[in-house]
Formats: sequence, C-alpha cells, structure tokens
Amino acid sequence: MGFAELSIRPYAEGCETDRVGFLEGWFVIPEARHRGIGRRLVAAAEAWARSVGCTEFASDAEADNESSAAAHRALGFTEVGLIRCFRKDL
Ligand SMILES: CC(C)(COP(=O)(O)OP(=O)(O)OC[C@H]1O[C@@H](n2cnc3c(N)ncnc32)[C@H](O)[C@@H]1OP(=O)(O)O)[C@@H](O)C(=O)NCCC(=O)NCCS
Repeated sequence: MGFAELSIRPYAEGCETDRVGFLEGWFVIPEARHRGIGRRLVAAAEAWARSVGCTEFASDAEADNESSAAAHRALGFTEVGLIRCFRKDL
C-alpha cells in the first residue's frame, strides 16, 4: 500500500550531524491515505535510523506540496529551509 525509501546522508539542511537518517521517498496509494499508514512507515523509518546510530532524521518535499508539508509537520518535523535546484548539460 505504500513505501518509505531511506538513506543515510552525510549532510542534510538544518542538521548538525554527518550521519542523518533521510526519508528519500514516502508514498501511500491514494485509496489508503489518512488511515495512519504514512505515520507507521515514518515510525519504522525512524526506528531503523536510530538502530544504525543516527540521532537526527530529515526529509524534503517540493516547495508547492502543501499536503506533504502538513503531513511532515503532523509527524513532528520542523521546517528548516527552502532551496532552489540548478542543472546544466556537460
Ligand atoms: C504524504 C503521505 C505519504 C501521507 O500518507 P498517509 O498514510 O495519508 O499519512 P497518515 O494517515 O499516517 O497521516 C500522518 C499525519 O499527517 C497528516 N496528514 C496526512 N495527509 C495530510 C494532508 N493532505 N493534509 C494535512 N495533514 C495531512 C495526518 O492528519 C496525520 O496526522 P495526525 O495523525 O496528527 O492526524 C501521502 O499523502 C502520500 O503518499 N502523498 C503523495 C506522495 C507525497 O507527497 N509524498 C511525500 C513526498 S515528500
């Protein structure tokens, strides 16, 4: 019904440690939303991060994804910044 994709990042915005548990992807199928699955996925993700020694956990979202921002806040995340992304061909 959904997934959480995780990594350990050496740097994450607003964090102080160099091994930050990071929520790379977080998705619940539309028909299963608002039933606590997303919350349980993040709880399991945080437990995994703690088990491998992380003391901080972080995530990101597209700037216009208000529902994701609201869900992050509901799960105890604090918003720490807004970034712009750039690329060019080489
Ligand atoms: C974000 C997402 C994973 C949440 O999954 P979910 O199973 O609906 O989440 P839950 O039901 O466990 O809700 C967790 C908390 O977030 C809140 N929340 C979830 N969706 C919300 C919304 N659209 N608006 C406001 N709050 C919301 C819930 O109220 C709940 O808080 P509460 O327990 O205090 O009531 C799901 O909406 C999703 O897959 N969205 C599309 C993909 C996406 O945007 N992923 C995040 C990318 S950064």
